[in-house]
Amino acid sequence: MRIVMIGSGYVGLVSGACFADFGHHVTCVDKSEAKITALEAGEVPIFEPGLDAIIQQNREAGRLDFSKNLAPSVGEADVVFIAVGTPSRRGDGHADLTYVYAAAREIAAAVKGFTVVVTKSTVPVGTGDEIERIFREEFPEKDIAVVSNPEFLREGAAITDFKRPDRIVIGTEDARAIEVMREVYRPLYLNEAPLYFCERRTSELIKYAANAFLAMKITFINEIADLSEKIGADVQKVAKGIGMDKRIGDKFLHAGPGYGGSCFPKDTLALVKTAQDFDSPVRLIETTVAINDNRKRAMGRKVIAACDGDVRGKKIAVLGLTFKPNTDDMRDAPSITIVQALLDGGATVHAYDPEGMEAAKDILGPITYGKDPYEIAVDADAIVIVTEWEEFRALDLKRLKTVMKDPVIVDLRNIYPASEVAKHGFGYFAIGRKPERR
Ligand code: UGA
Repeated sequence: MRIVMIGSGYVGLVSGACFADFGHHVTCVDKSEAKITALEAGEVPIFEPGLDAIIQQNREAGRLDFSKNLAPSVGEADVVFIAVGTPSRRGDGHADLTYVYAAAREIAAAVKGFTVVVTKSTVPVGTGDEIERIFREEFPEKDIAVVSNPEFLREGAAITDFKRPDRIVIGTEDARAIEVMREVYRPLYLNEAPLYFCERRTSELIKYAANAFLAMKITFINEIADLSEKIGADVQKVAKGIGMDKRIGDKFLHAGPGYGGSCFPKDTLALVKTAQDFDSPVRLIETTVAINDNRKRAMGRKVIAACDGDVRGKKIAVLGLTFKPNTDDMRDAPSITIVQALLDGGATVHAYDPEGMEAAKDILGPITYGKDPYEIAVDADAIVIVTEWEEFRALDLKRLKTVMKDPVIVDLRNIYPASEVAKHGFGYFAIGRKPERR
C-alpha cells in the first residue's frame, strides 16, 4: 500500500513510522521546511520512546520518506491520512479546522485514481461530511472516499498503543474504502486487534466520547481523593477496590494534580461546545472541565499549605514539569498553574525535568532550572513532585534530607509509601492519603 500522512506532528509521525514498519510505503508530508529538513537529516523533532529507531530503520529500508510537497506522493497514494493540528479556536473553544479543510482541498487537487482520504486528526462530528461536500462540489471529477479513523495513542506509550491497540475504529460505509482500510490495518489484524467499523459520524463521536470519559474518570477519582483526605481514607486503596470490579476497570484511576496535555483539555472543551450547539448539553463533561481547572489552582494552595501556609521567601524544588512522564510536552501541564501560584505567593522556584525544560522555558515565569533533583533540593523548604518520571521513584531520601533546609515532600502523584518517607524524618503530603507531619 502507498500511504501519505499529511502533517508530521505527533500523530502523523508516529502513525506514519508504524505503518512503514508494517511494510507499507509511507510519505510523511509537512508544510514546515525546517521540520522536513530535520527529519531528512535523521533528527526526530519530538520525544517519544522508540520512535527514532523505527524512523531510522524504515528510512534505511526505503519504506519511509518525507516531503514538503504533497502532490507527487498523493497522486500515487491508495490512502491519504489527514493528521494536521486541530487546536482550540481562540475565544470559543471550538476545534479550529482551518488546517484540515486546507489539507483536504490540496489533497483533492492532487489525487489521481480512487483514493481513500482519512481523518486521523481529532475532528468534530460532521467534519467528514463537510470534507465530502467540498470534494463533491469543488472536485466532482475525483473518485474519493472520506473515512474517519481516530487515533487513541498516548504520548510516551504511542508505539505500543499503535501496535497493540484495544481497537481500531473506522467510520465509513463505503465498500471500497472498507476493503482498503482492512488492508492498511491487516498486520494488526494478525495481532488480533479488533477492527470496529461504524458510520463516519459515530466514529467521530467515539473519539471525543472516549477522551471525555477518561477525563471524567480521572476527575472522579480526584474528587474521591479530596474526600478521602478529609475523612481519613486512602484513595489508592479505594481506586484499587473499585477497579477490581470489571465494570469499572482499574485504568485511569490514579488521583493526581489534574489532567493536562494536548488532548483531554482541548477535546473535552470541544465536546462541550458541540453538544451546546446541538442543544444537547453534556453536563457531566462541563463539570469535569470546571473541576479540573479548579484543581490545578487548588494544587498550588496545597503546596502552600504544606509549607505552613506561607511560601514567601521560601525555596521550592519542583520535580517534573511535563503534563506526564516520557514526553517533552508542556501543553496544559498542571505544573504551569502550580509554579505560577508559588511565584505569586512569593516563593523562589527551582525545577528539574528530564525532557521538558526546553519547552518549559518559553512557558513558565522566572524560575531556575537544575541538572537533577539533588541540585535543586539544596536549601529547599519543600520538594514538590508534579510529574511521576521513573527517576523520581527511588530518590535517595537520606541525601535529600541532608541538603534541604526543611524536609518536606509534597507528592502530587502518590509515588511514595508515606511510612518510608516519614521514617526518614520528612513531612509528607500526598493526594487522597493521610499526611505525615514532622
Ligand atoms: C490521551 C488518551 O489517553 C489517548 O487515548 C488519546 O489518543 C490521546 O489523549 C489523544 O486524544 O491524542 P495523552 O494525552 O497522551 O493521551 O495522555 P494520557 O496518558 O491519557 O494522560 C492525560 C492526562 O491525564 C495526563 O495529565 C495524566 O497525568 C493524567 N492522568 C492519566 C491522571 O491524572 N490519572 C490517570 O489515572 C491517568
